[in-house]
Parts: sequence; structure tokens; C-alpha cells
Amino acid sequence: MPKGVHHQSDRPQTQKKLELLAQAFDVWLAIWLGQKGGKGRPLVVLDLFAGTGKSYGADGNIIDGSTLVLMKLISGHAAQLKSQGRSVIIRSIEAKASKCEELVANTSEMLRSMPALADVVDFQPVCTSANKWIAGSTQELRAIGAAPAFVFVDPDGLQVDKVSIDAIMALPWRTDFFYNYMAEGVARVAGAAASDCATSQGNRVKLVKYLGERASGTGYFDASAYADKVFTPAGFFSVSFPMPNPSKEQTQYILIYASKNETVVDKVIRDVFARSAKVMYRGQGSLFDLDTLKTFVPSMGPRRKTHE
Ligand SMILES: C[S@@+](CC[C@H](N)C(=O)[O-])C[C@H]1O[C@@H](n2cnc3c(N)ncnc32)[C@H](O)[C@@H]1O
Repeated sequence: MPKGVHHQSDRPQTQKKLELLAQAFDVWLAIWLGQKGGKGRPLVVLDLFAGTGKSYGADGNIIDGSTLVLMKLISGHAAQLKSQGRSVIIRSIEAKASKCEELVANTSEMLRSMPALADVVDFQPVCTSANKWIAGSTQELRAIGAAPAFVFVDPDGLQVDKVSIDAIMALPWRTDFFYNYMAEGVARVAGAAASDCATSQGNRVKLVKYLGERASGTGYFDASAYADKVFTPAGFFSVSFPMPNPSKEQTQYILIYASKNETVVDKVIRDVFARSAKVMYRGQGSLFDLDTLKTFVPSMGPRRKTHE
């Protein structure tokens, strides 16, 4: 077994996350490409914590990472995009230099081997911090105009500042977020922030940057509390999928799909999430039926609180 693979192999949740990303993005693409009046208009895709373009599957096997997953799905629509005179602006942001180098290599290889894809995308990998990139790019992003946008936010800790999400929401785009809320990380940092140790102040600052002003309290494992604070006030509907940590009996992170389109959230993505919860890791099936599973993936919205 190659070095490093064993360590990564107990990660069925990564594979599940990427499967859900693919399903949600496929829905998003189908909707926007099926809309009348979209001819000539660009679509925007941001992969804000992009990694290397490769990842590890449930058995330690190498699978496509987020940017390659997104690109492959776009390639399936290359002819349609071309016939509509549309392109997809993709920006993949990765802060770690060595990973970004791999991302550049992996994405270049894909674009080289798929000329039809290369023809319809305007792709740039960016090797910097996501917060810094957003803060420095708002003018350029604003200039794209009223584009549909799909934004994947997948840090491995509390590296995304709430102000960055607010800045994206303030763009003139029709944005859908696929946001990975770091439940375990938030609870850990909140614990450290509340403690008496030397790092508590630093952890408090980290928490405030991540959550906004709410830096103390409970409910850190409740993604709806985050969605309620960040997405709902901006008019977004959201639905969440709690991802269990297979080695502990608790949620590791919570995927939140947020969009201004209530039907997409409450009917389509909620269904995708509930179906996916039916078969969790390594084919373990759930005894619950789909309607019961839907209560595990509640959706939220500006007009109503929680949909059960
Ligand atoms: C969970 S991994 C991303 C996996 C990737 N989205 C995928 O599904 O294939 C998180 C990545 O974020 C990168 N990262 C950490 N802090 C960052 C920051 N401030 N800005 C951008 N990337 C960052 C890490 O180096 C790591 O590669």
C-alpha cells in the first residue's frame, strides 16, 4: 500500500461528501442549462478549498477530488454549453503551495485530455487563502454580472471567515452554496475558547471569525443555527446533511445546501440528501423509509423555520 494511503483509508465520509457534491452540482447544472434566456451568459463555479484535485475513497483508493468532479460533470454538458454560447468560469482556490501545485497538474491534465471541456471553461487555479482571494477579487467578481453561481466551501477547519460568505452573498449573482459546516471543529474550538488556557483568546477570535459575532453558547453541532445566522437572513433556504464520523459516534461535519430557490432546496436537494442517508458508509442500509429520513435532513427558510 503506498505511503499515506492507509492513514487516509478510513474516510468513507470523504467519498460520500464528493458523491453528494456531484449529485447537487448535477441538479444545479441541469436547472441553469435548462432555463430559457440563458444564452450567452456565463456560469460561475468557485471551489474555495480545492485540495489537489484528487482524493481518497472509502477503501483508500484514489478518486477525483472536488475540482475534477465538477469539471467532469461540466464536460457532460460541453456540447449544450457550446450551443448556448455559454462558458463556465471556474476558480479553484488552494492555500497550501504543494497541494496547489498538484491541483495545477491534475486539472491541466484533465483539460488537455478533454478538449471539448477546455473549450467551454475559463479555469484558473489560485494558490492563496480563500478569505484573502475573496477580499481581493470582489470587484472582478462583481463585474461578471448577474450570473448563476455554485460555490463549494470545503475547509478542513475553521478557515473560512463569515465575512467571506457575506461578501459572496453580496455579489449580484444567483448563488447556491454547498457549504461544509465544521461541527466537530467548532465544538472543539469553542471548548478551547471557553477554557482557561493560554490559547483561549486565539480560539475565541477564530470562532468569532468563523461564526460571526456568536462566539459563545451551545448548539455548535446544530447546522441550522449556523444557517439561521448566515444564510436565512440573506433570504436563502437551506437543507443540511449531518456526516457521521465513522470512528466516533458523533457528527463530524454538516453539509449545508443553501439557495434562494425554495423548490430546489426543499424538494430536490432534500430528496437527494434523504436518499443518500438511506445507504450510509460501505453499503450499510438504513431501516428508515424516505419520509422518516427526510426528518433527519430538515430544511430551513426565511418564511418558515424548520420543515420537518
Ligand atoms: C477538506 S480539504 C479540500 C478537499 C477538496 N475540496 C476535495 O473535496 O477534493 C481542505 C483544503 O483546504 C486547504 N486550505 C486550508 N486553509 C485554506 C485557506 N485558508 N484557503 C484555501 N485553502 C485552504 C487545505 O490545504 C486543504 O487542501
